[in-house]
Amino acid sequence: MTGTVVRLAALSDIHYSKSSQGSFLPLFTQIAEAADVLLLCGDLTDYGLVEEARLLAKDLAPIKLPMVGVLGNHDFEAGQEQDIAKVLTDVGVHMLDGDTWEYRGVGFAGCRGFCGGFGRGALGPWGEKIIKDFVHEAVQESLKLESALARLGDEHRIVLLHYSPIRSTIEGAPPEIFPFLGSSRLEDPISRFDVTAVFHGHAHKGAPEGKTQGGIPVYNVAHAVLKANYPDRPPFRLFEIDMADHGDKGVTPIADRRSYGRRASDRQPPDKQSAGPGSQS
Ligand SMILES: [Fe+2]
Ligand SMILES: [Fe+2]
Repeated sequence: MTGTVVRLAALSDIHYSKSSQGSFLPLFTQIAEAADVLLLCGDLTDYGLVEEARLLAKDLAPIKLPMVGVLGNHDFEAGQEQDIAKVLTDVGVHMLDGDTWEYRGVGFAGCRGFCGGFGRGALGPWGEKIIKDFVHEAVQESLKLESALARLGDEHRIVLLHYSPIRSTIEGAPPEIFPFLGSSRLEDPISRFDVTAVFHGHAHKGAPEGKTQGGIPVYNVAHAVLKANYPDRPPFRLFEIDMADHGDKGVTPIADRRSYGRRASDRQPPDKQSAGPGSQS
C-alpha cells in the first residue's frame, strides 16, 4: 500500500468443499499482491461444514492480508455457522454480522442480509405467521445493517452483504427465483447513510454492477459472475479508494488487467492504470 490510496479486492461464493484445499491459494496470493484488503461476501463453504471452513482458513492464513467478510446461506446449511465464523476469525477475517470494522479510514459494515423480493413485489408481513416470520428476518437484517452503519463515522462507508439489496445485480438469473436472491429492504439503510459502495454475492448468474435508486454503486462479486463477465482477468474485482479525494467519494474499479498481478506498493499512480470512476470494467 502507498500514500492515500486503499485498494479493495472483492470476491464471494467460493463454496469451499472437502476437496477444495489449495484450489484458491494461487488466487489468494495474487489478491494479496494487488490489494490492501480482501472482502469476502459469503457462501464461503459449500455445505456449511466447519471442516470446509478449516480448509479455507488454511488457504487464507498464509496471505497475511487484512480481510473482512460475511457469511452466506450455504454457511448456515449444517447449523455450524458460529463455528465457521470463529475458524475464519482465527485466521484474521473480520466477520461482520451487524458489526463494523475500520481500516485506514475506510469503514466497513456488513451482515448476511436476506431475501423476500424487490420494490412493489417485495413480500409483506401479512397473513400466516410463517410469512410474517420470513419477512421479519429481512427486516431484522436491514435493522442490523442500519445500526452498524450508524456506528461508522468514517469518510467512506463500505457495505458487505451476501444477498442483493437491489434487483439490477441479479438480472440474468431466472426471474422465478428473483425473490430468493435479495431484498430491497436492505437498500433503505444503504441510502440513508450515504454509503460509498456495496458488495454482495449469492446471485451466481446475476450482473456484476448496478446502482441503488440514489445512485450508490452495487457490485455482485460472486465467483461465477466474475468468471462469466471478465474471462480475461483473475476472478476477483479490484477497486481503489483515494482517501485524499474528498470531492469524489467513490470507489474506482480497476480495469487494467496488469494491475491484478502487481504488488500494491509497486503500482503506478492511479491515473495511469485505472479506467476512471464509473468505468464498466
Ligand atoms: Fe453461492
Ligand atoms: Fe448464497
